[in-house]
Amino acid sequence: MAVLRRPLAICDVNRSRAARFGVQCQAYVEVATLSTTAEKGQGMTPTKPTSAAGETRRDTLTIVDNRNGRQYEIPIKHDTIRAMDLRPIKIHESDFGMMNYDPAFSNTASCISKITFIDGDKGILRYRGYSIEELSEKSTYPETAYLILHGELPTQSQLKEWTYHITHHTFIHESIKKFLDGFHYDAHPMGMLISTVAALSTFYPDAKDIFNPESRRKQTYRLIGKMPTLAAFAYRHSLGMPYVYPDNDLSYSGNFLNMLFRTTELQYHPNPTLERALDILFILHADHEQNCSSTAMRGVGSSHVDPYSATAAATAALYGPLHGGANEQVLRMLLEIGAVNNVPAYIKRVKAGEKLLMGFGHRVYKNYDPRARIVKRIAYEVFDVMGRNPLIDIALECERIALEDEYFVTRRLYPNVDFYTGLIYQAMGFPVTMFPVLFAIPRTSGWIAQWEEMLLDAEQKISRPRQIYLGYDLRSYIPLDHRK
Ligand code: ACO
Repeated sequence: MAVLRRPLAICDVNRSRAARFGVQCQAYVEVATLSTTAEKGQGMTPTKPTSAAGETRRDTLTIVDNRNGRQYEIPIKHDTIRAMDLRPIKIHESDFGMMNYDPAFSNTASCISKITFIDGDKGILRYRGYSIEELSEKSTYPETAYLILHGELPTQSQLKEWTYHITHHTFIHESIKKFLDGFHYDAHPMGMLISTVAALSTFYPDAKDIFNPESRRKQTYRLIGKMPTLAAFAYRHSLGMPYVYPDNDLSYSGNFLNMLFRTTELQYHPNPTLERALDILFILHADHEQNCSSTAMRGVGSSHVDPYSATAAATAALYGPLHGGANEQVLRMLLEIGAVNNVPAYIKRVKAGEKLLMGFGHRVYKNYDPRARIVKRIAYEVFDVMGRNPLIDIALECERIALEDEYFVTRRLYPNVDFYTGLIYQAMGFPVTMFPVLFAIPRTSGWIAQWEEMLLDAEQKISRPRQIYLGYDLRSYIPLDHRK
């Protein structure tokens, strides 16, 4: 009698790639042998690869359930299998069926997207096919936002119209100022931003009409236009300074600087280097495919809530120190290190697991984050205007040591976008609490694009993962006076 083995044997019989699944696969071994013979020209025609059984190549995955010996053939598309194709794998008809377990979605594609491409091993980032290097050199944030949202670069007239609409949706309802006033003077501006974005939904009930393209367009103008205003007002509130209204004659980033820093001058003239530096930083942060906040945007948006509420959720996700809040934490870390000669001792603590080297590591990039490279260059341009931020020397020493150290090398930990941005923001005069806010403003275009793509994708439904329940089975209620 055959002994039933517990594991599933997955045999990628047709594509010779079973090795990457790390499972025993007899068919794979046989395919590999055939290929080797063919390559040596020993009488085999190197045509279509064949399976062990001599069948023509099929893009399928064969799974053998060793609990009962049953075999299943599952389609492969885009190097991916559908999790629902695992469901028929079961022992008894009444079983729920097989699921895949992937905490933190390390190897699960939750959607099909055409917005942003990342090759984490090669350090490549592209929006709609355009490289981040080229966009940051030649584009502007409003143009890049248009590209991300519409899929194509705008023509001259399209850009003019787009910029007009964004610029003419920068004002916020006066009542918003009243609840900003309700925040404590030292309230974190991210908390204020999250709350005020959520509050926008109460001003624009038409935003609930999410399947109406006109309504979506309107909310897009409003969100991209108003985020800098909300952010700047939150900043001014923390200083106890009067709010500065948007200036339609300025660029997107220039107007933001105006609302933040204008004091008594009749007209604010942003420094062109700082204005362009901020614009480039906005380009770099505009989208990053299925990160934590985009996933929040899609997940919350999948319940068909209005885009302001979904954006508030995405902003909240971004706030965390492992995501967009990391830029703030990098600055705090550099201040804690305090001097270049303290870096080795700090790195030692990181390696001992006591600390994280903030601004290092990334779920997707296992190479230098291409954005970090651009940010590093801009830092020096900003320092030329504002003076060198002395913390740069500590940052450079952290990077130098980390890039040589076995701990970081083996884990493939490189600087991410947040490692150097804080130094620029600080040099520009922003308090550290504003750093995540400076991330949220440009990421809004990416969030809306991800949200809209999700809404229009016929395959998407309300986001609702499964779980493996390992808690108690049915128990009887114990009256209070009987409990130990
Ligand atoms: N410092 C020290 N060790 C680290 C760091 C770090 N910054 N990042 C990862 N590691 C270690 C982990 O401890 C783990 O070690 P182990 O294998 O011995 O257990 C290994 O590297 C793999 O790390 P994971 O946590 O599994 O990687 P994951 O993909 O889950 O996390 C993350 C990615 C959250 C970005 C992580 O690298 C991190 O916490 N970095 C610091 C925070 C940060 O900079 N976040 C910004 C990310 S970019 C962005 O969101 C805009």
